[in-house]
Amino acid sequence: MSSLTDVSTYALTEAQERIQQDLLTALDAFAIPEPLKGAVYHAVMLGGKRVRPALCYATAALNPNQNAAAVRRAAVAIEFIHCYSLAHDDLPCMDNDLLRRGQPTCHVAFGEDTALLAGDILQSMAFEVLGSRLFDQGAAVDAPIVLKQMQILATATSKMVNGQVLDLQAEGKHVNQEQLENIHRNKTGALISAAIMMAAVTIFNGTDQAIPKLREFGLAIGLAFQVQDDILDIIADTEVLGKTAGKDQQVDKSTYPALLGLEQAKEYAETLHNQAVNALAYFGDDATELLKITQFLLNRKS
Ligand code: IPE
Ligand code: IPE
Ligand code: MG
Ligand code: MG
Ligand code: MG
Repeated sequence: MSSLTDVSTYALTEAQERIQQDLLTALDAFAIPEPLKGAVYHAVMLGGKRVRPALCYATAALNPNQNAAAVRRAAVAIEFIHCYSLAHDDLPCMDNDLLRRGQPTCHVAFGEDTALLAGDILQSMAFEVLGSRLFDQGAAVDAPIVLKQMQILATATSKMVNGQVLDLQAEGKHVNQEQLENIHRNKTGALISAAIMMAAVTIFNGTDQAIPKLREFGLAIGLAFQVQDDILDIIADTEVLGKTAGKDQQVDKSTYPALLGLEQAKEYAETLHNQAVNALAYFGDDATELLKITQFLLNRKS
């Protein structure tokens, strides 16, 4: 393992510890009745790389004077939406998967009805967290920032859902590269971009040049993430992946390796990572944390 990989892995470990604590604090603040509570904690607390919260924190690190509570709430909210999307993605009526994060999927552990409702409640809880005083410690709430964060998250969540529809429709069909890019940007890229932009609005205003640069970064890293997910489905082992390897081929999903071949898909993932790194050049050394995560993502094995 190179030293740069060590550093980037460590960057994520720190973010994982932070978000784990905040997710638990947020979940405990809701009085969810059983059996839903068990399903929600299962969907949220058991593993996961926590890439979206890490991107949130690393974007906030571009300016140390950020609104810390608003960033922490955004990190929790984006992970809630992500976990909801996974619980639904695994349902028999969607990808029909049995393994997630090395555990039985939510519906396997709690039944389809409860897993569906766990996703539903996580979606509304994400917005409740954003509008709450969680982590404030007496600081004033900046209502315009909260509103922007809610808009960003709502728009990205709708895109994720639209992308999931297109993904299911594309099963067993040939789609061209433009169509596949549209699926991936919506189902996965949108939430990854939202993680970045929800932190960005706590430190930059709409006219700041930083905003288009971060958008460019989010677009590249968001698409790269799903291209790599497609690649890992083929080259990784189930044990490392924590989900059933080879599943995309089994159900004839439209993926980048299926469209371009494995080698060209890998090259494309690298090109997108380079685009992401180039977009960060504008920030110079301030983007160290974002660069570390980008490096981690390029080398990820699961
Ligand atoms: C998996 O996301 C689903 C996609 C959008 C590709 P992650 O790879 O971030 O899953 P976890 O959170 O680490 O389990
Ligand atoms: C998931 O894409 C996108 C979501 C919105 C959850 P995949 O279906 O490829 O994700 P995995 O491989 O099951 O994690
Ligand atoms: Mg899917
Ligand atoms: Mg899936
Ligand atoms: Mg996948």
